Amino acid sequence: MFTIITGAQFGDEGKGKIVDLISDKYDLVVRFQGGDNAGHTVKVGDTTYKLHLIPSGFLLDSRVLIGPGTVLNPQSLAQEIEMLAKGGIHIGPDKLGIDAKTSIIMPYHIELDGLKESSRAEKIGTTKKGIGFAYIDKVARDEIRLADLTDEGKFRARLEELATQKENMIRELGGDPSVVLDNKYIDLYIKLGQMFAPYMTDVSFEINKALEEGKNVLAEGAQGTHLDVIHGTQKFVTSSSTIAGSACANLGVGPTKVDNVLGIVKAYITRVGEGPLPTELKDDIGKQLQQVGREFGTTTGRVRRCGWFDLPILKKAVYLNGYTELALTKLDVLSNIHPLKVCVGYELKGKFIEYPPELTTDLGMCVPVYEELTGWSEDLTHVRQFSDLPDATRRYVSYLEEKIGVQIKYISVGPGREQTFTK
Ligand code: GDP
Ligand code: IMO
Ligand code: MG
Repeated sequence: MFTIITGAQFGDEGKGKIVDLISDKYDLVVRFQGGDNAGHTVKVGDTTYKLHLIPSGFLLDSRVLIGPGTVLNPQSLAQEIEMLAKGGIHIGPDKLGIDAKTSIIMPYHIELDGLKESSRAEKIGTTKKGIGFAYIDKVARDEIRLADLTDEGKFRARLEELATQKENMIRELGGDPSVVLDNKYIDLYIKLGQMFAPYMTDVSFEINKALEEGKNVLAEGAQGTHLDVIHGTQKFVTSSSTIAGSACANLGVGPTKVDNVLGIVKAYITRVGEGPLPTELKDDIGKQLQQVGREFGTTTGRVRRCGWFDLPILKKAVYLNGYTELALTKLDVLSNIHPLKVCVGYELKGKFIEYPPELTTDLGMCVPVYEELTGWSEDLTHVRQFSDLPDATRRYVSYLEEKIGVQIKYISVGPGREQTFTK
């Protein structure tokens, strides 16, 4: 079985939690795009893990893989492995495989990301992790791959070949080019290359072999559908393809192998960084969602903007991903809001539309049209089955399910593993 999970909105839908929850059914859990701009939270008992690169299935028996379509900051990965080791979890080469072709995020990528963002009149609000510039180099065929990093001679030669270009780019943006050939980090990167050499693998081969043997593979998306570099709200997007089809292309698995596509959907909507969010709430309800939902970025700590559930955004996510089922998270956060509103369409240039306009500037001009639903005041965090939810909550869930047109399979009412049930 091959399952793909993606975020249906703008990221932080609770992908980490759901991946952890279901990964006991899988033999391999694999990240296929993005880098350490992602922040996926897994909570087990009193322990909370914040993962940026290691797939969220790491706690269960599954082997976890980082595919060649990701961009990898080896320093971040080493820190993550160290953090887990402190908690007694050993992530060795038998547990984690990283594709030899994975692009390495270099310190100059991070420098360029920061400089470029400062120079923009209209900001994107990137995580400043160097993601965009690492992908530019992948496409330009100027990347340093994991296989290069693990071979000191190759690494030094590649860096020398690229140095002038990178120095010039930094200079042009008013930065200090000395970072490009700084020995301090070159030595560190060589050490990291040696550390990760035993982890190198051919991810496409591992996955296809596993599927051939009847094993189960779970592809874990990062970011969210509307941050997709092609189909998202450009320019306010990330630099990779975040939708389900991207898993096949980035992992080297044929589309005929996909069995199901699970969309992770927050019971309201959030966005971190710039870009349109038609249902954004700048009032007390927005603050309530932020505080009750603890809507602060897992990677950058920035406050996430919050808004009402947006059906047009979901409809588009269903089209782009071909979801076969959904997980609805953070339902508990909606307690004590009366009434609840759901956006069913937008007013744009005097017309009512039920599907997002293609261009970001038009989406920015959309005025949401809402339907009101009865709220509830009960605390949901102790509920363990659908039938125990208050009537109004069940109506909210069924209303969303009917409007979206895809089955809601999982419902989540808290960050813990136990706070999830099937509908
Ligand atoms: P991801 O990037 O999609 O993996 O999501 P994040 O981990 O960045 O953000 C989701 C946050 O919500 C994390 O802090 C989770 O622990 C938390 N969370 C997940 N599901 C629920 C839920 O059902 N209710 C509440 N209150 N918190 C949740
Ligand atoms: P997870 O996987 C939410 C956003 C950034 C910024 C834009 C571009 O935890 O859901 P980048 O650094 O990627 O060039 O920034 O994308 N962004 C995310 N927002 N969740 C994420 O990941 C994100 N990763 C990037 O805030 O607006
Ligand atoms: Mg996150």
